[in-house]
Amino acid sequence: MDIRLSSGSVIPVEMHKVRIVQKTSLVPIARRLEAISNAGYNTFLLRTRDVFLDMLTDSGTNAMSDVQLAAMMVADDAYAGSESFYRLAEAVQEVLGFRHTIPVHQGRAAEHLLAKVFVKPGDVVLMNYHFTTTKAHMELAGATVSEIYTDEALNTQSGEPFRGNLAVQKFKEAIERYGPERIPFVRMEATTNLIGGQPFSLRNLREVREVAADYHIPLVLDGSLLSENAYFIKRREPGYADRSIREIILEMMSQVDILYLSGRKSTSVRGGLMATNSKEYYDRILAWLPVYEGFATYGGMSSKEIEAMAVGLREMTELDVAGAAPQFIEHFVGRLQGHGVPVVTPPGGLACHVDARRFLPHLPQREYPAGALAAAIYLTSGIRSMERGTISMDRDAEGHEVYADLELARLAVPRRVYTLSHIEYAVDRLTWLYRRRELVKGLRFVEEPKVLRFFFGRLEPLEDWGARLAEAFEADFGPLH
Ligand code: F0G
Repeated sequence: MDIRLSSGSVIPVEMHKVRIVQKTSLVPIARRLEAISNAGYNTFLLRTRDVFLDMLTDSGTNAMSDVQLAAMMVADDAYAGSESFYRLAEAVQEVLGFRHTIPVHQGRAAEHLLAKVFVKPGDVVLMNYHFTTTKAHMELAGATVSEIYTDEALNTQSGEPFRGNLAVQKFKEAIERYGPERIPFVRMEATTNLIGGQPFSLRNLREVREVAADYHIPLVLDGSLLSENAYFIKRREPGYADRSIREIILEMMSQVDILYLSGRKSTSVRGGLMATNSKEYYDRILAWLPVYEGFATYGGMSSKEIEAMAVGLREMTELDVAGAAPQFIEHFVGRLQGHGVPVVTPPGGLACHVDARRFLPHLPQREYPAGALAAAIYLTSGIRSMERGTISMDRDAEGHEVYADLELARLAVPRRVYTLSHIEYAVDRLTWLYRRRELVKGLRFVEEPKVLRFFFGRLEPLEDWGARLAEAFEADFGPLH
C-alpha cells in the first residue's frame, strides 16, 4: 500500500508479514565474473546459488500466501473428476465469469492449443504486441504475427498511461488488408510484457472487441498479468478510481471470447488455464487437451497447484495484492530516474525496465546492448535480470538478425518477495554501473540455437569487458562485495 510519510514522500509499505524466509547470499565479484563467464554471459544459464536477488522473472517466483499453502494440503489427487478442479472452476466462474475452464500446465501450453485449434498456415495473428512463446507457437503453426500498436507504444520515455493499447484504426486496416478469414483471432496481452509491462485501457479493449465482433473475429486475452492491468485501469483510467479490482476484472472479461493465462504470474502458482463461455471453443480445445496436457480435470497441473490457483484467483482481486508489484516498481523506477538512470516510463507491471539503448548508447544493436547490460548488472550487483531485446528475437528464415523494437534489461519484481532495502541496493548498484557505463562493450554469440535462442544461447564479451568492469568494481568496493 502506498503510504504518505510525515515528510510528504510516499513509499510502498508491505501489507503482509514474512513468516517463512529463504536464505540468499551475495558471492564476491571474482566469483560473479567466473559465474557469468561459465553461463556464456546469458543470465538464464546462471545457477541460483550465484544469484543474490533473482529478478529474472516473476514467473513462478511470486510469494504464495498462507491460505494458498493451506489449500495445497487438501488437494484431491485423482486422474479424473478431481474435486480440486471443481474448486478451480468455481473460482473461475466467480472471479472471471466463465463457465468453461481448461487447466493447462502453463501459459505456453495454452498458446500451443490455440495454435493447434485455430491457426492454419498463411494466417495472420493480430495482437497489441507479441510475447516470445506466443510468437513461436503461431509461427510454428505456419502463421505470421502482426503487431498493431499505437505511436506511443515504443516510446520508452512516455507519459501515456496505456501504452499497451491496440491501435484501433490500424486494426480495421489490417482486417481489410488480410481479410477476416485469414485472421484466426486478435490477441490482447494484459500489462504487455515486451514493451515494459504496459497496460491497455478498458476503453481500448471495448473498442477492439467491437471491431472484432463486426468481422466475427474472436478476441483472445492473454491475462498472465491480469490483476496488474486491472490495477492500472483503476489508477489511471477516468471513471474507474472507485471501482474494485474484482469489478474491473469482470468488466474486462465481458469483452473476451477466450481467456488464457500463465498462472505463474497473477495467481502466484505454477500452472496455467484457459476459460471461455463458448461451448464450441471449449469443445474444440478440449479435444486436444488429453493429447498434449492431460485429462480435462488436471491438464498437466498438479492438483496442489490447482487448489492454490483457485485461492490465487480470488486473492489477486485484492487491491493490496494486485498493487503489490506495481507500487514497488513505481518506487524503483522513480529512484533510478532521480539518479539519471534511463528507465522505461511510465512504470508498468512486472518489472523495472532499464533502457539499454540509452544506457549504453555506444553499442550498436548487433552487439546486443540489452544482453550486455543484463550481464553487467549481474556482475556489479549479483542481481539477475533478463535481456528483452534483440537476443530475445530469433533470426529470420534467411538467417538475418531481426532487430528488436526495444532493447531492455528487465528487473522483475516478483510479488511480495523482496523488501525495500533490496530495491535500494539495486538502485545503488545500477547507479554505479551507469556512471561506469563506458566500460561495458558488446557481446557475440558463440552458440546460437535457432528457436528461442535467448534461453540457451551462449555469448562472449567483446574486448573482455567483463574483466575490466570487475576490476573497476573491486577498486571501488573491495573484493568481498
Ligand atoms: N504470456 C505472457 C504475457 C507471459 O509473460 C508469459 C510468460 C507467457 C505467456 C508464457 O507463460 O511461462 O507460463 O508458459 N512469461 C514469463 C516471463 C516467462 O518471464 O515474463 P508460461
